[in-house]
Amino acid sequence: MTTAQAPAVRPTPILLDCDPGHDDAIAIVMAHRSPAIDLVGVTVTCGNAEIDKTVSNALRVLQFIGAADVPVAAGCRRPLARPLVLGAADGPSGLEGSPYLPAATKAVEPLHAVDFLAETLRKAPEPLRIVATGPLCNLGLFVLKYRQLLSKIKDITWMGGVFYRKSEIITPTEFNASCDPEALRLVLDSGVPLTAVGLDVTMQVLVESPQYAEFGKIDTALGRVVVDWLKFYERLHRTSMGVGGALHDPLALALIVDPTLVRTRPAHIAVDLSGSFTLGATVADFWNERGMPPNANIATEVDADRFFDLLYNLLRD
Ligand code: RIB
Ligand code: CA
Repeated sequence: MTTAQAPAVRPTPILLDCDPGHDDAIAIVMAHRSPAIDLVGVTVTCGNAEIDKTVSNALRVLQFIGAADVPVAAGCRRPLARPLVLGAADGPSGLEGSPYLPAATKAVEPLHAVDFLAETLRKAPEPLRIVATGPLCNLGLFVLKYRQLLSKIKDITWMGGVFYRKSEIITPTEFNASCDPEALRLVLDSGVPLTAVGLDVTMQVLVESPQYAEFGKIDTALGRVVVDWLKFYERLHRTSMGVGGALHDPLALALIVDPTLVRTRPAHIAVDLSGSFTLGATVADFWNERGMPPNANIATEVDADRFFDLLYNLLRD
């Protein structure tokens, strides 16, 4: 007797725009290893480090995990309208703590990331999903240059912003938003459906002793590299906030695999483009007080345990 075969779930094709970055690197690993995802391409932006370093890190990580066939395109080397202020968590190379990660022999694409994105979208039979885990320099520039192709973007899942001030460990601004707030404003105004995965939820997926104990059980070269990354990455969080490393970008990526990991609420997000201490602040109107239609779905709650279980399973052979 044949058992009813569950219809094979076709993997979701995605583009990943990132600034690796330790947590970006884990998101790259997850995207490649998940049977639910077809990683069509990686576009890289400045942010956690200068563009040459973030590109090199993306190439090295993809080659290390056996995904050298995934194209990588280099993007913006600075924000659209202001100087680059680097993130501080990832060290001078942007991926400190993995010296033995082989240098890449894989070549970067000849097209700029924005043009690569345009070509990829043009060729795609269906609109593509984008996961963005860095400042939105590339996507903001894409909105300016390729408005006619916006309909080929199904939606954007972006790690960025902070919307509630639930606790003292949340600052009024978040790096991906404040690094290039003009780009964020362009993307929010573009009309492309956007899910914002901000510090409100990502600061709830921290790597502490119980999580290290689980990561430590993954006795593979990949498992060991991820633990090395996490040990370097947590330094800034531990010294400045007294908490473990927050898996910001992996949570955003995980929503492609399982969107039920978070709850979201629609809101209009405004971006502060002139604040002295709040430049890049993402100010959400959940109550339609501005009379502006929602331009994003904001993640407000997360099931941290289920997220970590998903991540462990993706890292285990
Ligand atoms: O604020 C967290 C974000 O900034 C993450 O994407 C991290 O990689 C850094 O880019
Ligand atoms: Ca990032």
